[in-house]
Amino acid sequence: MGTDIVQRKTDHIDLCAGADVQFHNQTTFFEEVWYVHNALPELCFSDIDSTVDFLGSKLAAPILMTGMTGGTERAGEINRELAGLAQELGLAFGLGSQRVMAEKPELAHTFNVREVAPDIPVLGNLGVVQARGMTTAAVTELLEAVGASALCIHLNPAMEMVQPGGDVDFQGGLETIARLNNELTLPVVVKETGTGISPAVAKLVAAQGVHWIDVSGAGGTTWVGVEALRASGRDAEIGQLFWDWGLPTALAVDGLRDAGLGVIASGGMRTGLDIAKAISLGATVGGLAQPVIKALIERGRDGARQLLEQLIRTVRITMLLTGSKDVARLRNAPLLRSPRFEHYARQLERFSS
Ligand SMILES: Cc1cc2nc3c(=O)[nH]c(=O)nc-3n(C[C@H](O)[C@H](O)[C@H](O)COP(=O)(O)O)c2cc1C
Repeated sequence: MGTDIVQRKTDHIDLCAGADVQFHNQTTFFEEVWYVHNALPELCFSDIDSTVDFLGSKLAAPILMTGMTGGTERAGEINRELAGLAQELGLAFGLGSQRVMAEKPELAHTFNVREVAPDIPVLGNLGVVQARGMTTAAVTELLEAVGASALCIHLNPAMEMVQPGGDVDFQGGLETIARLNNELTLPVVVKETGTGISPAVAKLVAAQGVHWIDVSGAGGTTWVGVEALRASGRDAEIGQLFWDWGLPTALAVDGLRDAGLGVIASGGMRTGLDIAKAISLGATVGGLAQPVIKALIERGRDGARQLLEQLIRTVRITMLLTGSKDVARLRNAPLLRSPRFEHYARQLERFSS
């Protein structure tokens, strides 16, 4: 089991950096909404305030690198490089699943990023299926060991169904979320991994008192696809069939507009324009994963920094072009929706309760 988990982490990094693991025929739906241009913004670009409060810290821009890795020496280096960049630029950072810390304590140090990222939000991470089998005290220990600001509990049933040897018993998920949310002192974020959280599921989670949802919707990295490439025979075929499975990110975010939840928009966020649009649809921050690890591996720390700086700059340009001096104003910037977006948003609403 121990060797398996380490090999899986290595495969995930290699496939995400080098293979085609993006959705093929399903987009995020951010292309189905666009801003009303403000030709007379009456703002100076340098006065744009893109800061936002998130999990007790002030970020320079509403951007989170969502959970990716840990558990091998190389993964540890990636964590430190990316968390260091997040600290440098004032962004938030997510760790990959900490399951390996419990299974192989000698690799726990690969999750230590607080030395390079003392001030920013660092989000811990566990799968709901693994968390179900752990006591709250054991989870607390993992979170304290990394100085986490919150715990992301990830949901990934589609991925598990394709993963060779994946978990196929998803019972007790909601109960686990409720227990950890009640018993942990840190905030809990319920997070998908690229197939989206529907308004109906978000409602169930919110009813347990959880305040944060990371929708991680469809349109970016497909984890069914990643596992399809790792699988062979029957599982690989099933993975191809479900490659594009999931609820598009923009529809998922829009569906939570009135849910009273803090929303992280992730899954296929590729530009500052996507991030800005997510905020105008109701999200608090936008998150992304695969492009950052790919940039780091292909172009080093400077390449990853360039990508992140470009995201920040393009969020700020969008703010200027919508006449939004700060993020609160960006939230209310006028967005036009295509008939296709409206059509699916209305259908989704029907299934919300
Ligand atoms: C290399 C890699 C490893 C990942 N590992 C985890 C993980 O351990 N836990 C988790 O919740 N999500 C994990 N994810 C999923 C991302 O956080 C994100 O939800 C998903 O990739 C969609 O975002 P993207 O389209 O920007 O990549 C991983 C993503 C990548 C690229």
